[in-house]
Amino acid sequence: MSTLVIVGAQWGDEGKGKITDYLAETAEVVVRFQGGNNAGHTVEVNDKKYKLHLIPSGILYDDKLNVVGNGVAFDPRAFFEEIEYLENLGIKIDSSKLIVSDRAQLIMPYHKILDQLKEKARGKNDIGTTGKGIGPCYTDKYERSGIRVCDLMHAESFRDKLADSLAQKNEYIVKVLGGEALDFDAIYEEYISLADRLRPFVKDTSVVVYNEIRKQKRVLFEGAQGMLLDIDYGTYPFVTSSNTTAGGVASGVGIGPNMIEKAIGVTKAYTTRVGKGPFPTELNDSTGEWIREKGFEYGTTTGRSRRCGWLDLVIVKTSIRVSGLTSLVLTKIDTLAGLEKVKVCTGYKLRGDIIDYVPASLVDLAECEPVYEEFEGWDNSVERATSIDEMHPNARKYIERIEELLDIKVSIVSVGPRRDQTFKKS
Ligand code: GTP
Repeated sequence: MSTLVIVGAQWGDEGKGKITDYLAETAEVVVRFQGGNNAGHTVEVNDKKYKLHLIPSGILYDDKLNVVGNGVAFDPRAFFEEIEYLENLGIKIDSSKLIVSDRAQLIMPYHKILDQLKEKARGKNDIGTTGKGIGPCYTDKYERSGIRVCDLMHAESFRDKLADSLAQKNEYIVKVLGGEALDFDAIYEEYISLADRLRPFVKDTSVVVYNEIRKQKRVLFEGAQGMLLDIDYGTYPFVTSSNTTAGGVASGVGIGPNMIEKAIGVTKAYTTRVGKGPFPTELNDSTGEWIREKGFEYGTTTGRSRRCGWLDLVIVKTSIRVSGLTSLVLTKIDTLAGLEKVKVCTGYKLRGDIIDYVPASLVDLAECEPVYEEFEGWDNSVERATSIDEMHPNARKYIERIEELLDIKVSIVSVGPRRDQTFKKS
């Protein structure tokens, strides 16, 4: 068996897209198990940039099967827009390369409206959602009023479910949120025409993935967002609405947890966060600004600028525990090049105690003071390194100390955005 999960070990945007693409080269099947088109992977191949949101990163290769699992909140409109975007960049796509779970929950137009209006109504307490309807889609899933891909495959049943759901949603949108009612016919017609295009891609993906694993195929599970955005273990409520941790694979794909062999956590050499909430190692100074500009820390999906801070090993350690990580990938070590000194947070001081886990309460997290270890900086030569031995000695020390502090191996190092700026360490 050869199965591997890739998850973000921080607040997302760690460069999982690039790493998934790198590891996809040797995989035969690439599977998305949670989230939706709120994810934003950027992959650079031969100086071409590809922005992926919903479709697994393996799509950039000709010979991989890409699977959108049942745990994904699936927007059929966004799906075909992304296919068109990729086809315009020369990527060939058909149902032999890409399949979608018949159990995936559909994002409906009213989910997007609800997402945006609710966020607006929250005012200064907004969560910072991407407004793509992911949260309301998952709300319906757990309220058991969602519409699934398999429902869309049967026009009559889809009509009934849509009528029920839309009546309720319109009432809420108009009476509570002060928005405009959505038109049934417009949604029905659009979705039924999307259903015809979608049909060839729809499969019971649990059966497909299970059989591929049984055939000893190399399967890669591609996480979106990151550990601290997990609905259970993230910095709730500033989280996404799905399980971003490795445990999400079993339920989001429909396979047993014993079929997951390895879990890799991707972490940047520093920490970033989009939106609100406590961020213990945040740098509200010129160094934070410098990292943001050098690392181009602006969202792929939203363009929002990301808050930047020193690498927080408490967060990564929490990820190691919660996702059962077997190794780490360290990205963007090149971004820190040029700083005289670099720090990492090794623990939090909370009311006199030192703790090494992320506390549940945001009140506690806001009070956590980082305990730092300081390192000498390195120069831009790290961008050209093709092995750990070619790295600037200070950068090498930094990586080795991270391994020591976390008691885990860094298996891959990324020193730039391109595919060839990546090497295996151990
Ligand atoms: P989410 O799933 O939304 O969390 O996205 P992600 O983890 O795939 O991250 P995203 O692609 O949004 O951001 C990473 C950015 O950093 C992209 O523009 C990558 O091209 C770039 N990148 C990845 N690795 C490196 C690296 O080692 N160095 C530099 N300089 N850029 C990198």
